[in-house]
Amino acid sequence: KKIKIRVPATVANLVCGFDILGMAINQPYDEMEFKLLETPDIIIKHTDNFGLPEKAEENVAGVVLLKIQEHLKLKNGFEVTIHKNIKPGSGLGSSAASAAGAAFGANTLLGNIFSQNQMIHFAMFGEELASGVRHADNIAPCLLGGITLVKSTDPIDIIPLNCPNLFVAAVHPQVEVKTSDARQILKKNILLKDAVQQWGNIAGLVAGIEKNDHALIGRSLNDVIIEPVRSILIPKFDEVKAKSLQLGALGGGISGSGPSIFMLTEKEETAEKIAEMMKSIYDEINIESFVYVSKIN
Ligand code: HSE
Repeated sequence: KKIKIRVPATVANLVCGFDILGMAINQPYDEMEFKLLETPDIIIKHTDNFGLPEKAEENVAGVVLLKIQEHLKLKNGFEVTIHKNIKPGSGLGSSAASAAGAAFGANTLLGNIFSQNQMIHFAMFGEELASGVRHADNIAPCLLGGITLVKSTDPIDIIPLNCPNLFVAAVHPQVEVKTSDARQILKKNILLKDAVQQWGNIAGLVAGIEKNDHALIGRSLNDVIIEPVRSILIPKFDEVKAKSLQLGALGGGISGSGPSIFMLTEKEETAEKIAEMMKSIYDEINIESFVYVSKIN
């Protein structure tokens, strides 16, 4: 048995919803090919040269498949060939794509035996390997599509939200920001007045998404807790954000733990103009960058 799947990039946090909100976008995406083996081997192959580990225990997709194999006491193994287009370390959910793709691919080959929550449960082992934390804000939208709210991971409680018809401009400047570092620098305690602002924004954002109220989405895309700390790791962050808003973005911020920056727009042309501007900002300071224009989907 053999299958091939397409696995989307995702934008986690959606600015104020640290670790709880995320959305799937239609560009870039990975492709994964799966074969069910008669032997218990877990074979991982990459067709790119990102240098990701291929030993099952060290590979994000590999650990997910090992956990599934262990859980089912399975005599079969899997061979997975990963065509990675979502650059590792970009903040666009590259590890979540491998993890969620592995859970989905295995489930399909095994005859759809798992629920969505079980797939999320297994996929989180991959995220844990990649970042040290079992979070599902990339995995959930990757598996379910659209925008999801991770109400809780223990127990797993995922709320799929409405999917507004919005475009996304994203830039990945090639500077290294490790998720583990980007988590370590965060403050462990926050002020109540900041928390009040933050949950006002999260509630406003969720209400805006549900009501398809683009203006409300825009004015809720504000983060007073995480962005002020993390944005320091991303050159030209303030300039990219300010110029995007001038060009008509509804709002945006850091994608996942960075270094990518994303902006939401109502029109595709606006997203294209913003992407061009983003690229030129990094060209000026000789930082290589990749830009993507996509849709939430
Ligand atoms: N919510 C996570 C973070 C996403 O911001 O650290 C990164 O994988």
